[in-house]
Amino acid sequence: MKERAMHAVPRNLTSRCPTIVRGEGIYLYDNEGNRYMDGSSGSSLVCNIGHGVEEVARVMTPQARDVAYNPTHCSVSQAFLDLAERVANMAPGRLDKIFGVSSGSEATEAAMKFARQYQVARGLSSKYEIISRWQSYHGNTIGGLSVSGHTYRRRKHAPVLNRFAHIPPAYCYRCYFDLTYPGCSLKCARVLENAIRQEGPENVSAFIAEPVVGAALGAVPAPDSYFEIVREICDKYDVLFISDEVMAGVARTGRNFSIDHWSVEPDMIATGKGLGAGYIPLGAVIMSSEITGLMEEKKVPFVGGHTHSGHLLSCRVGLAVLDYIEAHGVVENARDQGTYLMDGLRSLLDLKMVGDVRGKGLMAGVEFVRDKKTKEPFSTELNVAGQVMDAAMERGLIIFPGHGSVDGVMGDHILIGPPLTIERKQVEELISILRTSIEAVEKRIGI
Ligand SMILES: Cc1ncc(COP(=O)(O)O)c(C=O)c1O
Repeated sequence: MKERAMHAVPRNLTSRCPTIVRGEGIYLYDNEGNRYMDGSSGSSLVCNIGHGVEEVARVMTPQARDVAYNPTHCSVSQAFLDLAERVANMAPGRLDKIFGVSSGSEATEAAMKFARQYQVARGLSSKYEIISRWQSYHGNTIGGLSVSGHTYRRRKHAPVLNRFAHIPPAYCYRCYFDLTYPGCSLKCARVLENAIRQEGPENVSAFIAEPVVGAALGAVPAPDSYFEIVREICDKYDVLFISDEVMAGVARTGRNFSIDHWSVEPDMIATGKGLGAGYIPLGAVIMSSEITGLMEEKKVPFVGGHTHSGHLLSCRVGLAVLDYIEAHGVVENARDQGTYLMDGLRSLLDLKMVGDVRGKGLMAGVEFVRDKKTKEPFSTELNVAGQVMDAAMERGLIIFPGHGSVDGVMGDHILIGPPLTIERKQVEELISILRTSIEAVEKRIGI
């Protein structure tokens, strides 16, 4: 039989991927009947409530039939109003204003634009720069990539990126300053002050950071007290703090938002992924009424909306996702199973190439090294993280591979973040498959 030509351009252009046709709970099925445990909740850490949830599917058709889209330039929808109220109730402190978008990149991009317009509305129009960190990821648009600190993803587009300052990540396993926590006094946070002074506080609009660094480092949480120091420095220099929770938000780390693990309130949260939980593309910027209020008072409209900002059907689905999270104790399950997952992953530290295990809640990472003592990484050509992904997939487990933990290019890690509805037995299954997959790669590469 003649094979059908492939016209779609998939994200993975270099290898043959299975065609997924069905999902149920934490499992996916392809068109050949193979079953996979979705250990990365889609690509990546999106499907927080699992696949095939009837309560979500049930709201889609009636809403689409009633009305799926409203002209957002001159009307609002009840679904958006309801979702905004719900998200505001989940968010920390004063953060009670919600701007709807369709993706994480749009969320970080819009947060940066809100920051800029807020500074202009305050009469501080020289404040434009956004400081961020190396080995971070804030999205694939030009703005998002400009603040991202993932060298591999930036390199090809470097000529068109904004040249904003980046500070080192909070990454204890490979501390930039060769210090050890807590004796380090969190130098990695304190250097933010140097960066702001070097750029000139009058030019700096905001600082953006992921409380738990996702794809770029493989689930690395900042140490305790890091964001308290960041908050203090931002306040001192009148700089806004944007918490990028696109991956770590919406229950993923066992709290509503990952910044809830620290005792600080950001000025804005950018969120995405888990808000639509893979059922629909949906994201949001969550901010205080101080930001939107000033713009309202000065009658300055926000310049930066999109065709699908606050999309009606998406908001309705987002609401059903949040209903499910509340009704099924998903935040609590993420916390409890997260502890169990971390214990299981730590048991893999006896394997020769497992150098580090880290994470928060059900957002976990494993870093691979050639030499555990020196932390020497593997050569990029070996693509060890990709090999572990392939080995796991052959055994029925999907994980998310990443590179660049050493310097933005070298260094292999994997992200593990199953749906937050995972059960204890399934965590055990995940760890067991992961162990045999890593052992198989160790054997293949002769370590
Ligand atoms: C922390 C963070 N910010 C932003 C983004 C970009 O989100 P999206 O891919 O939905 O545009 C991602 C995606 O992985 C992310 O992890």
